[in-house]
Amino acid sequence: MNNNNVIQVSESVKWIGALDFDIVTFDVVMETVYGTTYNSYFIDADKKAIVDTVKEKYWDAYLEKIKSVTKLTDIEYIIVNHTEPDHSGSLRNLLKVAPNAIVVGSGNAIRYLKDIMGAEFPHMIIKHGQTLDLGNKSVQFVGAPNLHWPDSIYSYLPEEQVLFTCDSFGSHFCHEEMFDDKVGNFDDAFKYYFDVILKPFSKFILRAIDRIRPLGIKVVCPGHGPILRSFWKKYVDLSEELAREAMKYPEAQRVFIPYVSAYHKTGVIAEKIAEGIREAGDIEVEVCDIEKSSLGELEEQITRSSAILIGSPTINQNILLPIYKLFALINPLRDKGKLAAAFGSYGWSGENKRMIETNIANLKLNLFGEGIFVKFTPNEEEEKKCIDFGKAFGKALLEKEEEVSAE
Ligand code: FEO
Repeated sequence: MNNNNVIQVSESVKWIGALDFDIVTFDVVMETVYGTTYNSYFIDADKKAIVDTVKEKYWDAYLEKIKSVTKLTDIEYIIVNHTEPDHSGSLRNLLKVAPNAIVVGSGNAIRYLKDIMGAEFPHMIIKHGQTLDLGNKSVQFVGAPNLHWPDSIYSYLPEEQVLFTCDSFGSHFCHEEMFDDKVGNFDDAFKYYFDVILKPFSKFILRAIDRIRPLGIKVVCPGHGPILRSFWKKYVDLSEELAREAMKYPEAQRVFIPYVSAYHKTGVIAEKIAEGIREAGDIEVEVCDIEKSSLGELEEQITRSSAILIGSPTINQNILLPIYKLFALINPLRDKGKLAAAFGSYGWSGENKRMIETNIANLKLNLFGEGIFVKFTPNEEEEKKCIDFGKAFGKALLEKEEEVSAE
């Protein structure tokens, strides 16, 4: 594939990014079936500027692109909207060949870059509302923290109404034509990217969208995927809608009880706990054997629920793989403080209790007392204990939510 093209975006802005058709997973956590792009932009003003760089792997081709649009000694500013190495990976190399360049970014960005690159470098810290003078053009900065790291900002070229947003409004979708009106439909890639990268920061994307609404915009230039020149409003509106939807969660008084069970002993405990929770009051309870659940289904249940009880038997002194996958989907940024507990059946040594409860604590959920653990098959008395445990858990959830609504 042609990785050497430079694309004119507006009168003075050129896309000089990299196409990555081959990537299979991004940040380890995302499947990237459509590949991705690392978008870097050149602003051909009196004072030349580059907005974001590309993953280090693409340095050689990237350097050729930069040399095709400017003399390296003419680059005065490298604006870093976000420092994750998919965007900052080529910065160290670029600084070596562009001796007059000053790195421009938020305070967090500059601090992170010192650690990422392990070196000092010429820099300028900017804040929301400040403007960088490029002679015949200018760049205004819009504070947009936590999109998707605390370092992130947007950069806006008012003379041409071009907004550079890095991860925001991006998608993992690789197409050499690059423009939203030339690459075909990429809505599912856009939504999937939003779900995984931005949804945990919905509060921040809504704040950032509020800040860009008053701007005149012709083009939104994200850090990944198509450049939004025809349909930017559709994707900004969609991001707002998805963020508002996400902000509705978790639903009050909704409990998720995921478990796995080899001989339905842990399953019986799950059902009895659920019975007790329902007796405690008006609480919706979702009990689910997650052996065959997809990651998407699990994530949705975790997101929607205000409390979670996790059950696994002990098998060979360990808990089971679906429960480890479930832990991988719990996001402390989103789920911190949700009421949680553990349960399960065991035969000999019962490591399930410690393993589940340790993960609950490490993931910053709010552990509700000692969980329910039963040797082999729960007898009648133990089933009653499970129901009582469920009742106590349900009451604690209702009390917690009363406190929150009273605040
Ligand atoms: Fe595309 Fe958060 O980096």
